[in-house]
Amino acid sequence: MTSLANKQILLGVTGGIAAYKSADLVRRLQDAGASVQVVMTPAAQEFITPLTMQALSGNPVHTELLDPEAEAGMGHIQLARWADLVLIAPATADFIARLTQGMGNDLLTSICLATAAPIAIAPAMNQGMWHNQATQTNLDILIKRKIHIFGPAEGGQACGDVGPGRMLEPLQLVDAAASLFASGSLAGKKVVITAGPTREALDPVRYLSNYSSGKMGYALAQAAAEAGAETILISGPTQLAIPPRVQRIDVISAGEMHAASLAAAQGCDLFIAAAAVADYRPAQIATQKIKKGDADMLTLTLVKNPDIVASIAALTPKPFTIGFAAESENLLEYARSKLERKNLDLVVANNISDSSIGFNSDDNAVTIVEKTNATEISQRSKQQLARELIALFAQKIAAL
Ligand code: PMT
Repeated sequence: MTSLANKQILLGVTGGIAAYKSADLVRRLQDAGASVQVVMTPAAQEFITPLTMQALSGNPVHTELLDPEAEAGMGHIQLARWADLVLIAPATADFIARLTQGMGNDLLTSICLATAAPIAIAPAMNQGMWHNQATQTNLDILIKRKIHIFGPAEGGQACGDVGPGRMLEPLQLVDAAASLFASGSLAGKKVVITAGPTREALDPVRYLSNYSSGKMGYALAQAAAEAGAETILISGPTQLAIPPRVQRIDVISAGEMHAASLAAAQGCDLFIAAAAVADYRPAQIATQKIKKGDADMLTLTLVKNPDIVASIAALTPKPFTIGFAAESENLLEYARSKLERKNLDLVVANNISDSSIGFNSDDNAVTIVEKTNATEISQRSKQQLARELIALFAQKIAAL
């Protein structure tokens, strides 16, 4: 169970429609053992009343920068010192801009300026505002300042748009907050992992895919969360349950996995591409079911998908980026060529000519391929292998 025992969380609420979820967040933070005090901006109070937040948190809600009831009128300093974590959920585009500028024009921004505690924000906004260059530049600056960015999730939005910008669910935010206090070799680190197959639609009932079960990627996500990392798992269709304390983003096609990976990789320390991504997709998706004709042959035209792990390795700053290589021959040669071509830091190569390891098996055996050396790890369960790999990756990151 996620623990925030004895932690003092200052929850900042800014003015977005997702503010209604902050009420539940208070309860979920308390369930995890935290004490919660709430600060609301004027705009937040248009969406949810301070009375609601007071009743749920059991503490007075703070709304004013100049508070005559606080000792020496310095409420923001007291609150800044009280917090073990300042968590702002939802964080609007406007709040993010003001935080980036270092403004202190309301209670919440003043607390952020004054506090020595870690600050985490859970962005929530329309997808267009999220994609806007101004917002993205602000986030880059906040990441450089070591401010933690939780989410956002993708999906349907209050305005009717679909895309990134939904606030994470309260339990996901509790997990992400807990990971900041976790001990372990990846404590305080953000890890993004792709897993499972992708499906490339041919028509409304058919698709191209492969035999990946997701077991390897899910085992890695579980091991990363156990090592204390804030862990995001971007998963193609699988039958597997979400590992504890892991945030899963469900995708279907390579294109969706590419977009979700780029969004999740912001501020990430380690990116692991364990998914078996379709290299090609049908050039056209038929809108109606393709009918059997008289011809004995049907020719499909395929177009190349974006290379997800290569796109991540091209980011600045670049996370420590790890690819998997599923090879049935010339294992080392092909793995090394992927290492160089995709600008990866390390490749985990599986020999898929043996059906007891690799795709859809419970075990795996791999070779860790780096620029100048290669190390074999013999056959063992994917869970055991994942724990060993995560310990190795943690050492590599610590040595950077
Ligand atoms: O899911 P399981 O049943 O547990 O099986 C695990 C696994 C065998 C799928 C896994 O261990 C594995 O090897 N994953 C990578 C399989 C693969 O497709 O390898 P590749 O050689 O095609 O791709 C090389 C690397 O580039 C991989 O990290 C892949 O995720 C990445 N890639 C590939 C194509 C693409 N368009 N984008 C990518 O990011």
